[in-house]
Amino acid sequence: MLPILPGAPWLVAHRSMLGVNQPYKVTLNCQDYVLWQNTQRNIFALENTCPHMQAPLSNGWICESHDTITCPFHALEFDREGRLCKDGLAQGQAVVQPLELHIKDDLIWTYGGFEPRLPIPDLIPRRTAGLTFVGVAGEKSIHADFLSCIKINYDFNHQNGSHRKSFKIKDNPVHRFESDGYFAKVEQTFIRERNTLKEILANPGLISMPQSYNSNLEYTFPSTTMFDGDVDFGQIPQFYILYPETDRRTKTFVLCYGEWKNPLFQLPGLNVLAKNALLKATAMVVEQDSATLESLYPQQKPKIRLPKEEIMLYVEKLYREWQPHE
Ligand code: FES
Ligand SMILES: [Fe+2]
Repeated sequence: MLPILPGAPWLVAHRSMLGVNQPYKVTLNCQDYVLWQNTQRNIFALENTCPHMQAPLSNGWICESHDTITCPFHALEFDREGRLCKDGLAQGQAVVQPLELHIKDDLIWTYGGFEPRLPIPDLIPRRTAGLTFVGVAGEKSIHADFLSCIKINYDFNHQNGSHRKSFKIKDNPVHRFESDGYFAKVEQTFIRERNTLKEILANPGLISMPQSYNSNLEYTFPSTTMFDGDVDFGQIPQFYILYPETDRRTKTFVLCYGEWKNPLFQLPGLNVLAKNALLKATAMVVEQDSATLESLYPQQKPKIRLPKEEIMLYVEKLYREWQPHE
């Protein structure tokens, strides 16, 4: 496969997803890598293929005292630079290629070995200053191509289809759409029908959503979509992250941040409940989108157009101009 958007910065993980001294596998543009974090919060990354007989290093284990990873097949040990080690001592040149990471606070970015074509965006730190990190929701691999996955984040007509059951959105007028190169902004209002008690019990996060509320979206192509709804909980921006694993598989996860403006939610017990409800509702959104994406037939030229699709056409244009061979 030809790489998807080579030179784009990809956010492959939040530090909290890695654990400590545990291998974490990342697949980016058909290449597998293993990442691990030591107790001092240093993060290392190597290609995942053992140079002996090609076992996946991510199935191996970390030596805490040497910051090395050991292959699960014949227990050869490699350091952070990909050199073979014995008892923690490196022997000779690198035999496994390291992956260059760009770590910004807790965000782990990489260009996947390509020449950078865009800077690493500052959207997340800019929009989360002073907020607490709530957690990661909806981490999964979607069996769909990257373009389809990114387009759904710019699709302002799918609320009534893909998200019909839970959010009961009657209308979502878009008031503003501005774009500046790879950055775009949208303002919209959600108008919802009331939820039944049964629906709220199944998904308590719905309590936080008024019947009419404004939301801001900000996009930094191609990795990040910020959704910031003005809901009763407080300010809870969510960052929907995407990166291409293969030409048919796309990784997603959502970083949730928050500040509870309602004093009730500052009580320890309710705080935990509110956080869990937020993460659960977010994971449900991801499930609904991925169920849609995984059900689609191969793309054809649409015979019908809906209003508000210019935003989707904007992102498709960015993608196709980057990726002229498709
Ligand atoms: S395959 Fe890794 S040590 Fe043999
Ligand atoms: Fe969606």
